[in-house]
Amino acid sequence: MSAVEPSADHLGMARQLAGNMVRFGWYSAINWMADRRTAAAGHVKTTVKRERPVPSCAELLADLRDLFRQDAKLVRDRIAVANGAEPAAGLADHLGRLRAMFADLPEASERRRDRQSDTVADLAAAAGVPDYFAQDFHFQKGGYLADESARLYDVQVETLFYGAAAAMRRRALRPIAEFLAGADQREIALLDVACGTGRLLREIRLSFPAMHLTGLDLSPAYLKEAERHLSGLRRVNLIAANAEVIPLPDASQDIVTTVFLFHELPGDVRRRVASEMARVLKPGGRLIFIDSLQMGDRNGWDGLLEAFPQRFHEPYYRGYSIDDLDRIFAGAGLVDAGSATAFLAKIMVRRKI
Ligand SMILES: C[S@@+](CC[C@H](N)C(=O)[O-])C[C@H]1O[C@@H](n2cnc3c(N)ncnc32)[C@H](O)[C@@H]1O
Repeated sequence: MSAVEPSADHLGMARQLAGNMVRFGWYSAINWMADRRTAAAGHVKTTVKRERPVPSCAELLADLRDLFRQDAKLVRDRIAVANGAEPAAGLADHLGRLRAMFADLPEASERRRDRQSDTVADLAAAAGVPDYFAQDFHFQKGGYLADESARLYDVQVETLFYGAAAAMRRRALRPIAEFLAGADQREIALLDVACGTGRLLREIRLSFPAMHLTGLDLSPAYLKEAERHLSGLRRVNLIAANAEVIPLPDASQDIVTTVFLFHELPGDVRRRVASEMARVLKPGGRLIFIDSLQMGDRNGWDGLLEAFPQRFHEPYYRGYSIDDLDRIFAGAGLVDAGSATAFLAKIMVRRKI
């Protein structure tokens, strides 16, 4: 009898692995070119002050390999669709965004040098949003409220993570699949809190076509980008709202996901958002949380967490990196259902009691 499971998709697994390797090579080249462009414009890289150790290049690469291996297994197990994150709009659109990112680099490094993080305040859309939100996160012109920032976000994040951001997000798919085992997808409602440009929602929609999906974000510009990214797929409900006051009924969701949000929130807001996510979950439902590693999560990696907020405008990152997430979630009635790390991210699965 063959040891190979008949349903395993080995060809898809190889395609996913190859796709990730190409992405890594592509974004490594983009990082190299971005450094040269910044230097050519007469700007020096931010000098980072660190007290804690950083992993060696070999350690980082080994970890990245592991992330890509796990990612390929999602396709092998028919949970993810091979290369589902690829830009729906094609190569020309992707290159146009990269060109715009490169065009903005000299100004972006000026904003970084001058620690300028308030261009967003000039936008009409900034009226009425909380102060903590109305800042130029990552020194992006217009913060989360400008169309151009939404257009560039995905390529900037992939550049930051050397093409590994999509694979880190996809780590949400396995706990979703495990929760669903045997259930009828049509009966399942999932909310993605701070869905941004809809990258995770796209992957979830490709993997679970019949599930009821909602995305919530405070940025109309990012939601517009999410709409574009989800076009051609079965409808996803997108809501412009503050995650501190989610406009959905109590116990209405089976799964809540949230990716790369908490490190951008002040401590008290983190607690309010956690309670809201717990409120909308049904008893027995799952929170699937993905965000940056925190201090102490990886032995010898803390120096990386010290460096990040010095290079990018991330005013709440330090507070996040030492916050007690276990306690926040437990306080909201969410109990441990598994934790893991994946390259620069941590994944926490919590069950609503
Ligand atoms: C770093 S991005 C992450 C986006 C997306 N989840 C991803 O995986 O790329 C943070 C997102 O959080 C959103 N956000 C920040 N504060 C929020 C709040 N209070 N309510 C809703 N969305 C918020 C921003 O608009 C932005 O889209």
